Amino acid sequence: MEPLTLTDQTQSEEDKKLQSEVISSGSIPKHIAIIMDGNGRWAKDKGNIRLFGHKEGVESVRDITESCAQLGVKHLTLYAFSTENWNRPEDEINGLMKLLVNSLKKEADRLNKNNIKLSSIGQINRLPASCQRQLEEVKELTKDNDRLELCLALSYSGRWDITEAVKKIALDVAEGKISPDEVTDDKIGSYLSTANVPDPDLIIRTSGEYRISNFLLWQLAYSELYITKTYWPDFRRNELYQAIFSYQKRDRRYGNVKNGYTKKISAAVINKIIS
Ligand code: IPE
Ligand code: IPE
Ligand code: MG
Repeated sequence: MEPLTLTDQTQSEEDKKLQSEVISSGSIPKHIAIIMDGNGRWAKDKGNIRLFGHKEGVESVRDITESCAQLGVKHLTLYAFSTENWNRPEDEINGLMKLLVNSLKKEADRLNKNNIKLSSIGQINRLPASCQRQLEEVKELTKDNDRLELCLALSYSGRWDITEAVKKIALDVAEGKISPDEVTDDKIGSYLSTANVPDPDLIIRTSGEYRISNFLLWQLAYSELYITKTYWPDFRRNELYQAIFSYQKRDRRYGNVKNGYTKKISAAVINKIIS
């Protein structure tokens, strides 16, 4: 399969070749989720204030979103602002929120032309009214697009997501809409904010931190992790390709054993081995 071309983008021959290689070398993750970290340190290294890092991070968002669309990734979830990020200094929060509004405005047409649908998860009602309005506008504009769903996790945390789901399940049980026996793994998944989205195949974290920071706690049960030291503003498509190459080499066993290792052994042999 050939990578798809996008409007508004002049793609180099070298990049086309690389994308073809990524596509032909293994399976493309259906859902990639990214913890976009390291904006502040990127800016600091350049002697700038943190907001410069956030601004440059928007360039990475565009590049990664478009390359995911070209490669055939169907869902891209970006951790843009966590519940805990509300504890940051007010000026940083203000800067981030304004940047969000501006970026949504600037990118709306391009997202739409490229057949990308915007969605969000998180406590959207905690965002400033201007952010909520802009988000709604772009969601409405792109709602019928189906090439890639770009989901922004905003004022999001995995524990919040699970807590909300538990509350709704408790209510539905109390009202007799479902019985406790119906509360299965899949049922819980259907109450989460990611209900209609497959679990992430690949989770990427930039900036070299080995932690999840309250991201998709339930959904990442069997996701493959890729951690890179690169700060988010420097994370561009070539590194995305490296992450996918790494993913393609993984052996996803889901707790099972590899095919061919399942030769039956007799009870006598088992007893002999364990005694
Ligand atoms: C990630 O970069 C962006 C947000 C969390 C909003 P940071 O702002 O966390 O940058 P570092 O980790 O301090 O370098
Ligand atoms: C995680 O990054 C949240 C986002 C990328 C939005 P943080 O910088 O907030 O996480 P910690 O503080 O390193 O765990
Ligand atoms: Mg950080």
